[in-house]
Amino acid sequence: MILYLQHFNLILLALSHVSQALPRTWKRDADIESLQGLTQITRDRSGKAGDPDDKYFHESTFHPHYDGRFAEKVLPYDSRRIHLTHLIQTYLSTMYDIGAETWLMHGSLLGWWWNRKIMPWDTDVDVQVSERSIAFLADYYNMTVHHFKVPGVNRGRNYMLEVKPHYKNGSVQDNLNVIDARWIDIETGLFIDITTLRRDRTAEELGERGHMMRKDKHRYLENQVFPLRNSVFENMPVKVPYAYTELLEEEYGPDALTNTDFEHHHFDEKEMEWVRVQE
Ligand SMILES: *[C@@H]1O[C@H](CO)[C@@H](O)[C@H](O)[C@H]1NC(C)=O
Ligand SMILES: *[C@@H]1O[C@H](CO)[C@@H](O)[C@H](O)[C@H]1NC(C)=O
Repeated sequence: MILYLQHFNLILLALSHVSQALPRTWKRDADIESLQGLTQITRDRSGKAGDPDDKYFHESTFHPHYDGRFAEKVLPYDSRRIHLTHLIQTYLSTMYDIGAETWLMHGSLLGWWWNRKIMPWDTDVDVQVSERSIAFLADYYNMTVHHFKVPGVNRGRNYMLEVKPHYKNGSVQDNLNVIDARWIDIETGLFIDITTLRRDRTAEELGERGHMMRKDKHRYLENQVFPLRNSVFENMPVKVPYAYTELLEEEYGPDALTNTDFEHHHFDEKEMEWVRVQE
């Protein structure tokens, strides 16, 4: 336990960061011209042109888990893992610093379940925030850039938090915009999808209390999520939903918690690691 704590201190120190706000406002996601100075990239590879008008965030034309304003290419396996690890560590550290409540969900929660790490075949990270936290992030931290000293990287790295304008609209009709905010690595274009867990007001009107929902129609009971539990993910303090086993079984089926062969990887129970299987 003491070992763990020392580890945290080290990482938190190493990740101590500076943030600054970008002063301008835009109607849609910040366009590439407005981001000059932040990125060396001059060609916008976001799928904006082909996306419906009402969609706020635009994924790249070459991969749905890269932001085309910051990415030129898909990263190789090993380097993607390192960048994703820094992405979640810097996100958790920032949310902790500013006091925004957040917890793991979906594939990232499954990774946590197996070995407290991102699953090596994953290309993104999923987290949730409360309604109060998203409002706080929108009001005070939209378009802020956070600089981190990352161990082994001289220049350090920059991450940007972007909150979409209509984040308050919890309508399931708004299915183009299920993602409320993103934490974006502006060097690689990899990002964390941030969604809001809302009270299910329709259910409440019908007299059912304690129902929560996410815009993509995932429904949860309040007592499946809260009280959040404290744990560790990628060597950082993290929160996870209370009834994590139930939530994971509902989303992925019970096999996802026992099957040690998945996506060309085998789970080595001695090492507690997913090992890539060479074919
Ligand atoms: C955040 O900033 C972007 C870029 O200026 C803007 O398009 C968006 O509407 C802002 N979001 C909020 C919640 O104000
Ligand atoms: C929320 O989004 C839906 C779908 O785009 C739209 O029909 C509705 O008018 C929006 N609600 C508000 C309050 O803006």
